[in-house]
Amino acid sequence: MATVNEIIRPLFITGLRDVHAVEHQALALIDRQLDRLAHYPEIEARLRSHRTETEQQISRVEQILADLGESHSNLKDLGLSISGNLAALSHTVAGDEIIKNSFANFAFENFEIASYTGLITLAEDGGFGSVTALLEQSLAEEQSMASFVIGGIPKVMRTFVDLRAAGEDASH
Ligand SMILES: [Fe+2]
Repeated sequence: MATVNEIIRPLFITGLRDVHAVEHQALALIDRQLDRLAHYPEIEARLRSHRTETEQQISRVEQILADLGESHSNLKDLGLSISGNLAALSHTVAGDEIIKNSFANFAFENFEIASYTGLITLAEDGGFGSVTALLEQSLAEEQSMASFVIGGIPKVMRTFVDLRAAGEDASH
C-alpha cells in the first residue's frame, strides 16, 4: 500500500501543472477581453492589473515545480479542457459580451480559488509547507479578483442598460 506521502506528491505535482495551464488560459481569456473593452474602464483597469498578477502566479508555480525538481512543460491536462469551456463563453457575438464575460470571469476566478485551496491542503499535509506562502499569495489575489467581479455585476448590468438607452454600443 502506498504511503500518504507517496499519494500526495504526484497529486500535488499534477495539481501544480493543472493550475499552471489554467493560469495560461486565464491570460488568454483576459487578453481577448482587453482587445475589445471600450466602455467599461474600471473593468479594463482591473483586468490589466490582474493580468500582471496572473503572470506572477505562473512564475510562482514554476518556481515551486522547479524546487521540487519537476517540469511544467506538460500542458495537456484537465485544466485546459475545463478552462477552455469557460473561455468559450467569451466568444459571444450576442451583443452582451461584457455580461457573459463577467460571468465567465467569476467562474474562472472561483475555479482558481478551488485549485489553490486544494494545493494548499496538499502542501500542508504532504510536507511541502515551505511553499504554502506562495500559494496563499496567489489564492488571496484570486479571491480579491473574484470579489471585484461579483461586486461589479450590478454596475455592469446598469451601465449596459444605460448605454443601450443612450443608443450606444454597450456590448464591450
Ligand atoms: Fe485569476
